[in-house]
Amino acid sequence: MTEQEAFARIQALTHQLNEHNHRYYVLDEPSISDQDFDLLMQELQLLESAWPRFLSPQSPSQRVGGQVLSKFENAPHRFPMLSLGNTYSREELAAFDERVQKGLGKPALYVGELKFDGVAISLTYEKGKLVRAITRGDGQKGDVVTANVKTIRSIPLQLRGSGYPDFFEMRGEVFIQRNDFEKLNELRLAAGEEPYANPRNFASGSLKLLNPAEVGRRKLDCFLYYLNSDEKRFASHHQSMEAAKSWGFRVCEQATAPTNLDGLMAFIDYWEQHRSELRFDIDGIVIKVDDFNERDELGYTAKSPRWAIAYKYKPMTASTILETVSYQVGRTGAVTPVANLKPVLLAGTVVKRASLFNEAEIERLDLHVGDQVFVEKGGEIIPKVMGVDVAKRPVGAEKVQFIKLCPDCGSTLEKIEAIHYCLNDSICPPQQLGRLEHFVARKAMDLNSIGKETIVQLFEAGLVRQVSDFYELNYDDLLGLERMGDKSVRNLLEGLEASKQISYERVLFGIGIRLVGETVAKTLAKHFPTVEILAAASQEELVAINEIGEKIAHNVVAWFAQEQNKLVIANLKRHGLQLERNTDEDVVVSDKLQGLSFVISGVFERHERDELKQLIEQNGGKVLSGVSGKTDYLLAGDGMGPSKLQKAQDLGVKILTENEFEELL
Ligand code: IVH
Repeated sequence: MTEQEAFARIQALTHQLNEHNHRYYVLDEPSISDQDFDLLMQELQLLESAWPRFLSPQSPSQRVGGQVLSKFENAPHRFPMLSLGNTYSREELAAFDERVQKGLGKPALYVGELKFDGVAISLTYEKGKLVRAITRGDGQKGDVVTANVKTIRSIPLQLRGSGYPDFFEMRGEVFIQRNDFEKLNELRLAAGEEPYANPRNFASGSLKLLNPAEVGRRKLDCFLYYLNSDEKRFASHHQSMEAAKSWGFRVCEQATAPTNLDGLMAFIDYWEQHRSELRFDIDGIVIKVDDFNERDELGYTAKSPRWAIAYKYKPMTASTILETVSYQVGRTGAVTPVANLKPVLLAGTVVKRASLFNEAEIERLDLHVGDQVFVEKGGEIIPKVMGVDVAKRPVGAEKVQFIKLCPDCGSTLEKIEAIHYCLNDSICPPQQLGRLEHFVARKAMDLNSIGKETIVQLFEAGLVRQVSDFYELNYDDLLGLERMGDKSVRNLLEGLEASKQISYERVLFGIGIRLVGETVAKTLAKHFPTVEILAAASQEELVAINEIGEKIAHNVVAWFAQEQNKLVIANLKRHGLQLERNTDEDVVVSDKLQGLSFVISGVFERHERDELKQLIEQNGGKVLSGVSGKTDYLLAGDGMGPSKLQKAQDLGVKILTENEFEELL
């Protein structure tokens, strides 16, 4: 490939990837599969690493987050970031409208928008490129968080279309969608970590992280609602937002057309009723004078514009009676108290239960059975108990005491930091079920013929308790079960048979040792070629590995020490599952180098040649012995023969240093 061809291809890929990003994250209408998207991205990354001078800071490949920062720079806002006056009352809105009319000497038209409940951000675009992102800070200056913001897929790095000012600023709100937030919290709970408090704190905490790659994993999103520029290209807010939409920004889809006070009141009513149907949190409505000349005429007070106001919704609360407290045991053994309430209507749904989090929360509320409690629905789907009306407490009401024994298996609970756990995972039913579900999951044994309901069925029938019991199942046992016909039984058994080819590292992930996720399982498989060697490893041997910390090491040792688990491993082995590394193919780490051929020559500073060969092969590449037209890269160390180098140059083979190779990986 010539330089010119590479440049053209990089541009074409950049354009395609930007389009797909926009379709997926802004329009919600993807037109290619994730896999095809990844392939295009890999091609772009490869070309950019081969021709680093064509790598632009706005390239879609830069969204994964680069270097870890030691601190954020501080920078002034070109236009100060003011806040809005706000109110909870309709009378004050009418008064706002009157002030506007008086100021202008005539009635104004307004745009009503949702008030997104996240964290404010200011984005600077120069010639269509995102060059800077700054947090609100004190309104005059804020933290430069550009690297973090670039990982937010719905924020365009390069604008689409035309007609944007050379220099302008977009304001918006960074947030996380409710279901993404809940998924992240489920993962945290499953890993035995404290859940995040709410979506807003999560979003603002995420923007302040110094590791952009971590921010990139957090599924942040952003709505933009305000264009600021010295150029006066638009006559009104709604026109500027239409233009912003055409440039690729995600703007408020629910915004009203320009309207009067009555229209705004109807808008407020509507979203007060329907806000729980949105995929994200709002805490009110923002009302803005639409016409820009009118805005200029009205001007600003010291703190906020006179042309806009926020109407805030009251948190959705209701008052009801606490009937009982029950306790749920999760897959990890964490025990969560739940308030069972007298059913009450809250924001359009009947609420019967509310989360109580942990013992400290019960203490904070000083909960008694029969208490009159206030429940509030914030960002979370499950409402919270906010407080107790002590005056209404029935005489002799019994104080709620956290249970001592596991409600499912009777074992004594242990408190680790703020959370109570049932540690008897070998006999505790929800934990056993959780382990079975984990084992069949796609990323573990990929047994899609065994769903959650089937697991419960098999468990209740006493057929499966340990993961190895799946492999004892036979046709006759299964056919006797409800909803199990000939076809589903055959499917299930075939799936189990096929799973015997699943790699060692995935089996290690599947057996469900606490804190051993996919990545840790890969690391373990890499360092311990058979399960016997792993089972015999000591705490010291395990922590000697870079990625393995004390807690993980402890869990691994403890897991293999249990007699019952030894039996599980022996049974899995007897049934022919992969419990050692397949040395022919060796562990595949990624397919980053798929389809690429390398020649290694010379000596290197940080790697032996064999190690480099292994790295290339583990990432899908091939290692050839001599330079030819088929070679993509010559990995060149010290003391390489001059003829090889010459040949590579003649054939246009890209030459990589050890550093460049590491970067490529
Ligand atoms: S307009 C100069 N529109 O709410 C005024 N703000 O309480 C620019 N917010 O500071 C702000 N959704 O962080 C505007 N649709 C929206 C908004 C919105 C959320 C935030 C923003 C603002 C705060 C005011």
